Amino acid sequence: MSSSEDFFLEYQGLLLPRETHCAESLNFAQEFTFKDDDVVAVTYPKSGTTWMQEILPLVLNGGDLTPVHTVVNWDRVPWLEETRLAKIVDKLTSPRALVTHFPYSFMPPSFHTSKAKVINVIRNPKDVLVSSYYFHQMANFLEDPGSFDEFMDKFLEGRVLFGKWTDHVKSWRCAELGDRIFFITYEEMAQDLPTSIRRISDFLCCSLSEDVIHKIAKHCSFESMKANTMSNFSLVPKEYMDSDKSPFLRKGVTGDWKNHFSSEQLVRFTSVINKELEEENFSLPWSLD
Ligand code: A3P
Repeated sequence: MSSSEDFFLEYQGLLLPRETHCAESLNFAQEFTFKDDDVVAVTYPKSGTTWMQEILPLVLNGGDLTPVHTVVNWDRVPWLEETRLAKIVDKLTSPRALVTHFPYSFMPPSFHTSKAKVINVIRNPKDVLVSSYYFHQMANFLEDPGSFDEFMDKFLEGRVLFGKWTDHVKSWRCAELGDRIFFITYEEMAQDLPTSIRRISDFLCCSLSEDVIHKIAKHCSFESMKANTMSNFSLVPKEYMDSDKSPFLRKGVTGDWKNHFSSEQLVRFTSVINKELEEENFSLPWSLD
């Protein structure tokens, strides 16, 4: 019988998938040299990482679709902490875009001394939980999630990839980053993608015309990304990700939690999350309803 240790590597108290992380990749991340014009999208898993891997290159290159049509997302905008980065880092051209699931305290020294900008995408944790539940069913390199109820307990206790959701979001609300960090929600992007892209491009000081903004938004729609083999993970062998069990780009909507939570689960989930957010007087600028 498999145990969670077969799937996860424990790194300074965080659980990371062994399939894509190892001691060398974590050392590489710690020694990584950030450049001032780098952009890093920070997400808790299942909050819109792949979406940012699509949006950022297009914003940074003025809407040229070549990279999103020719380079797989994990090479186009690599994860800071994953094994793949060391293999492709020399191919990245500036301004580089990266993603990370690291909490703030895990960022390497060069991140703090650089002026690299950060885009933190936060998603309603109820939808994160649902998305993650399906992801665990299709990703064969992850532990079977068990029942939804069991998986909710693991999520609330932080016995899941990259630890507790509340610890992650709290860690990035730090004053030291000042205007180097921009916060956006998955829900805002889902509600009005062109406006979200405009705000991201303004933050990155990329001056884009309305036509280019709309071209990027069209390309980054759920339907368009689902059809893009460079972004929909269909190139990953079935033994790792089985889209017959659940596609990676699954529903792409807000509020799917309403189809999964019982009223008892809603009370349990909300009380734990709210209590943890209220500690240290932390409040989110968005409603989680
Ligand atoms: P669902 O499982 O709810 O559909 P991540 O990339 O951080 O792992 O997050 C994956 C989630 O983002 C999935 O959510 C996926 O469908 C959603 N997603 C990815 N691209 C999207 C897009 N263009 N529009 C809406 N949702 C998107």
